[in-house]
Amino acid sequence: MVTTATKTLEPKPVLVFDSGIGGLTVLREARVLMPERSFVYVADDAGFPYGGWEEDALRAHILDLFARLLEEHDPEICIIACNTAFTLVGSDLRAAFPEMTFVGTVPAIKPAAERTRSGLVSVLATPGTVKRAYTRDLIQSFATQCHVRLVGSQNLARMAEAYIRGEAVADGDVLSEIEPCFLDSDGRKTDIVVLACTHYPFMANVFRRLAPWPVDWLDPAEAIARQARRKVPLIDNAEHPDGFDLAVFTSGNPDFSTRRLMQGFGLRV
Ligand code: DGL
Repeated sequence: MVTTATKTLEPKPVLVFDSGIGGLTVLREARVLMPERSFVYVADDAGFPYGGWEEDALRAHILDLFARLLEEHDPEICIIACNTAFTLVGSDLRAAFPEMTFVGTVPAIKPAAERTRSGLVSVLATPGTVKRAYTRDLIQSFATQCHVRLVGSQNLARMAEAYIRGEAVADGDVLSEIEPCFLDSDGRKTDIVVLACTHYPFMANVFRRLAPWPVDWLDPAEAIARQARRKVPLIDNAEHPDGFDLAVFTSGNPDFSTRRLMQGFGLRV
């Protein structure tokens, strides 16, 4: 029990980070498992989308940003709810801020390789994530017995942002982004598609409806939240402080529909 003589200490917040609003798919799971904690949700919308950034520039940008975020918010831990960021900069963050615990998000290639029956797995991600050495290493380490197709989508992260804000997204546009995931060869068909961008689970229902055949769409959000729960100490009698959690946008100026979305998630901008 962590208490002073007179009152229970207020637990530090958990910081959840993404380039945009995709990390909300992880935040909603993390809240279920850590109801006593407050959260700070950080969207680097000034840098969005991360998928097309040159690697050195993105690494420097994120390290610089975290120096400020850790100073400003003093979190208990940080969840990097972004494959594109963590596959590039996860080890640099840990080296630069050794006192902080970083829980990362990486493409769920290992569980997909364990579950596939056909041996054909696709990884749907940003162009950045499919290029990463980290992603190739995951395949080498855990999936050499499978055929893993990497599909880097230029547009899906933006489409998911529009979709979750309530804007119309044409079926044909979505289909042309997901279609390359579906492989039918020698009587075998892709049976698992890894959602390796935290934006994509928001569109999972659309993907299911448009898919040429049913597959398992693997969303790692719950597993990430469980990993975070293991790292965040339980404090007796701690309660979530009343009111909203905080959302921070690096642009300083999210538009009206984004603000409304944040409110719907119980986040104060
Ligand atoms: N949500 C991010 C991810 O998990 C990427 C979106 C982007 O910035 O392109 O990779």
